[in-house]
Amino acid sequence: MKGKRILLGITGGIAAYKIAFLIRILKKKGAEVKCIMTPASCDFISPLTLATLSENPVSIDFWNRQNGEWVNHVDLGMWPDVFVIAPCTASTLAKMANGFCDNLLTATYLSAKSPVVIAPAMDLDMYAHFSTQKNLDLLAANGNRIIPAEEGELASGLIGQGRMAEPENIAAYLEQLFEKQTDFAGKKVLLTAGPTYEKIDPVRFIGNHSSGKMGYRIAESFLQRGASVVLISGPTQEKLTHTRLELISVESAEEMLKAVQQHWPASDIGIFAAAVADYRPKQVAGQKIKKKEEELTITLVKNPDILSWAGQNKTDQQLLVGFALETNDAIAHAQDKLKRKNLDLIVVNTLEDEGAGFKNDTNRIQLLDKHNKITSFELKSKALVAEDLVNYLKHV
Ligand code: PMT
Repeated sequence: MKGKRILLGITGGIAAYKIAFLIRILKKKGAEVKCIMTPASCDFISPLTLATLSENPVSIDFWNRQNGEWVNHVDLGMWPDVFVIAPCTASTLAKMANGFCDNLLTATYLSAKSPVVIAPAMDLDMYAHFSTQKNLDLLAANGNRIIPAEEGELASGLIGQGRMAEPENIAAYLEQLFEKQTDFAGKKVLLTAGPTYEKIDPVRFIGNHSSGKMGYRIAESFLQRGASVVLISGPTQEKLTHTRLELISVESAEEMLKAVQQHWPASDIGIFAAAVADYRPKQVAGQKIKKKEEELTITLVKNPDILSWAGQNKTDQQLLVGFALETNDAIAHAQDKLKRKNLDLIVVNTLEDEGAGFKNDTNRIQLLDKHNKITSFELKSKALVAEDLVNYLKHV
């Protein structure tokens, strides 16, 4: 926790008073703390209390009423290692889930670059309401981390689930989150992502629908946890920069193979999420093929299987993970690929599942290991799918 920058977003619920205790715990552990308060939260705890405890000015409005200065929500969003919204009311949850931006806190949320942790707090019926649960699911599916409300006595006098997680529990959650940020330090990860383009002539190619999102989210997840990553990427709109990232852009399967051959021997973990074209045109026309005949035949030849090459050249110290994109009998096909390509693990996704596979921001995966053990996950954002995969690999 020492030296970590924690931005606290406080909204208008009775649990706001507990944020004073949270700040004390975080400061004792050596964190740097800044607070953004919604105007409603100032009725529950004074900005002066939070400014004094955090040893930083508290931001409430888009501009500072004393000196007329603009408060830059973009800078605030870029500042922290984690943005914690606690307590988070039903109203702020709904705004966050729907992109509303009517106060400094919600504007900063939309600009935030760090992980976001939400600790909801409200009365039990509000918490159980389908709207609140739907908003929580949507926020979680899009990469936000939720610390569920705890059971107990509520401000209304009722008893049930709705209390904000206790400050000690929020602090423990954050400590775990930060620990994870270094648990792959020193590890070298080789990743393939995106499609390959196999040239037909100077203007046409054979490609597929891969957007690169899945592979890039895995790269981000490993980078967040301290690993060095070599990302060999086919053509994609995705962008990623990081001091521990080497991004190698390729077009064809043959170029991807060359890059993999260069980097696999020095890697600890290989994850092959690319959708590689299995065939390429036997001949690439030097000039644009003209539209003449009614039919055109292009002879295709087999591309190298890049993952199989890595499997054949794997040491006992290396961990090799393939992907299987299936349309039917997913597990049986994946089992075959796992064996044939000498993998330690295969990530199965199938186009039978709505929201899974190509292009979507979500995916649903099953992990199949060498002992035929299957671990299944729900449909969730590719960022969270990547996190599940990285968590799993930590314990392999
Ligand atoms: O990029 P997105 O839009 O986010 O979509 C993600 C994804 C659907 C592309 C991804 O989740 C995925 O499933 N990637 C693998 C797609 C695929 O080509 O599967 P496959 O079953 O045909 O191949 C099996 C494995 O062998 C894969 O790890 C693949 O990278 C590898 N392979 C395949 C052929 C080949 N010539 N060389 C390979 O390395």
